[in-house]
Amino acid sequence: MKPYQQYLLGLGLAGSLCLPACTTQTNTNTETMTTAQQAQNQISEDVHSYAEPTKAVARHLDLDIAVNFDTKTLSGTASYDIENLAKGNEIIFDTRGLQIEKVYLGDKQEETTFRLGESDKYLGQPLHITIKPETKRVTIVYKTSPDAAALQWLNPQQTAGKKHPFLFTQSQAILARTWIPIQDSPGIRITYSAKVQVPKELLAVMSAENPIEKNATGNYSFEMKQPIPSYLMALSVGDLVFSKVGAQTGIYAEPATIKAAAYEFAEMDKMLVAAEKLYGKYRWDRYDLLVLPPSFPFGGMENPRLTFVTPTVLAKDRSLTSLIAHELAHSWSGNLVTNATWDDFWLNEGFTVYFERRIMEELYGKSYADMLNVLGYQDLQNTLKELGETSEDTRLKLDLEGRDPDEGLTDIAYEKGNFFLQNIEQAVGRQKFDAFLNKYFNTFAFQTTNTDKFLEFLRTELIKGDEALAEKINIEGWVFSPGLPQDHVVPTSERFTKVEESYQAWKNGKPAAQLNTKDWSSHEWLHFIRMLPEQMSQQQLQDLDKAFNLTNSGNSEVLAAWFIHTIRNNYTTADKALETFLTNVGRRKFLVPIYKALAATPEGKKKALAIYAKARPNYHAVSTVTLDEMLK
Ligand code: BES
Ligand code: ZN
Repeated sequence: MKPYQQYLLGLGLAGSLCLPACTTQTNTNTETMTTAQQAQNQISEDVHSYAEPTKAVARHLDLDIAVNFDTKTLSGTASYDIENLAKGNEIIFDTRGLQIEKVYLGDKQEETTFRLGESDKYLGQPLHITIKPETKRVTIVYKTSPDAAALQWLNPQQTAGKKHPFLFTQSQAILARTWIPIQDSPGIRITYSAKVQVPKELLAVMSAENPIEKNATGNYSFEMKQPIPSYLMALSVGDLVFSKVGAQTGIYAEPATIKAAAYEFAEMDKMLVAAEKLYGKYRWDRYDLLVLPPSFPFGGMENPRLTFVTPTVLAKDRSLTSLIAHELAHSWSGNLVTNATWDDFWLNEGFTVYFERRIMEELYGKSYADMLNVLGYQDLQNTLKELGETSEDTRLKLDLEGRDPDEGLTDIAYEKGNFFLQNIEQAVGRQKFDAFLNKYFNTFAFQTTNTDKFLEFLRTELIKGDEALAEKINIEGWVFSPGLPQDHVVPTSERFTKVEESYQAWKNGKPAAQLNTKDWSSHEWLHFIRMLPEQMSQQQLQDLDKAFNLTNSGNSEVLAAWFIHTIRNNYTTADKALETFLTNVGRRKFLVPIYKALAATPEGKKKALAIYAKARPNYHAVSTVTLDEMLK
């Protein structure tokens, strides 16, 4: 038990530790509750944060930092408006690898004492700051370490323009504490302002209201008026330009990339319109994209107002833009209604995948969304196989205590979460389900949610005591049990049926060049490549490669899937392209299966280690943590 739970027991409040019943209480009785009770109702215990928000909690941050590319450090102050709910003498922040220089209290900046607690590999160190019962403001003077895990400092060679350095942050899941002393739990929300000083030739952007061009001073100011959780704190600095898409949307990228990006994402405005039509008004004013250099470890990151995105979706044919629909959807599921702890990650990602598919259906029709669903189902099957169908980690509700949440967050949350929601949709009908989701997003806007809260809402708003319906929805089977319920609906795609026919013909000896692949999108290609047999002859590989030029595909998804086969079957023609891919791209989703396939044989492992030694300096810490472990 955490100390603050004992404190709650003392107050007789433990019963409201977000058991199902607490939701309704929060919404109906707020006037009669104390602030502490209200705060408690918002917060579930987070085993990945040292903060004790029911005692003293941050509400607003004023960040004032300088970005130093020579020393690879950020330095400055984090000033918080706080609420000392318990009127005690301490507030706790999360830190990891930060150098804390001084701490001051109040507007008069009286120096106070502080202490850094014991260090944990993943969680870092608690920063205990001595405060007074009446303290309202705390100012922390600090500096980051050059190896801060959230920060990737790129030299000019690692950028598209090759002339200027670049910096970006990645705070999710618990890395915000490596660049800001912060109460680093998704259950705690803050508004923020920031002043950021950068080299004059660079532009700074954040998950906030952003400038659209450089100024002569290198000083930039930001404001985020809506309260957000710490994992959505984000900053990037580089030689960036802005290109407008719609009235509310636009793209930031390096000058060398902006044109390609503007073409690729020209439909982002339509996505926003479709999303609003589905689940209500977009609450964050602007929606812009920032295209990062290829070392960005993720496909996308839903930083509010400014999604960070990998350049590996620049396929030149707009075929990979479901990723933008996904990050945009997080503006509702995740950023607006946020998982209270990482154990409830499926509420962020499962809802977002469901929503993403709905946006894509709206824009490109059901046959398109069906393909995404089938590919997602394949990913899910692979993850289930890898983890084992009885593994506890295949439940939607997770238990990540004692682990790095980043390692426990898998496709289960995304795809099992999505299929659970699709299952509810099928049980009640789309119209009812959409009304339900609308109400859910509005009811919990700018608040946190957890599995119990959601299920309570589901029971009161949708199931309403209908036992036959409850049985169909099968909460126990989907949420709390491992694997998939036996009777789940397996998604299908007509367009993929055609691909399967071509595949069968090829397998029965028809030359690849004679297959009818004319209208295939990258999704059809991906399905085709994933179906290829594990063992293939050199001749088969050559036949495919010659007909479809797969080794030189400009589509990162197609390429990454193809490399798995070239590695397994020792098709060395692809080696050079493979090495180029691995040294340029830092997206973990691609790197992990490719390195894994390589490491499966002693020879391949040698190859993997040689490439890794060269490529590792290009990868973000998020990727190297996983790969170091895999290749050690
Ligand atoms: N929020 C996630 C990325 C993330 C998850 C970062 C967990 C750190 C910890 C983001 O929305 C995401 O899911 N990105 C996916 C793309 C998406 C289309 C499935 C990715 O990066 O591959
Ligand atoms: Zn996501």
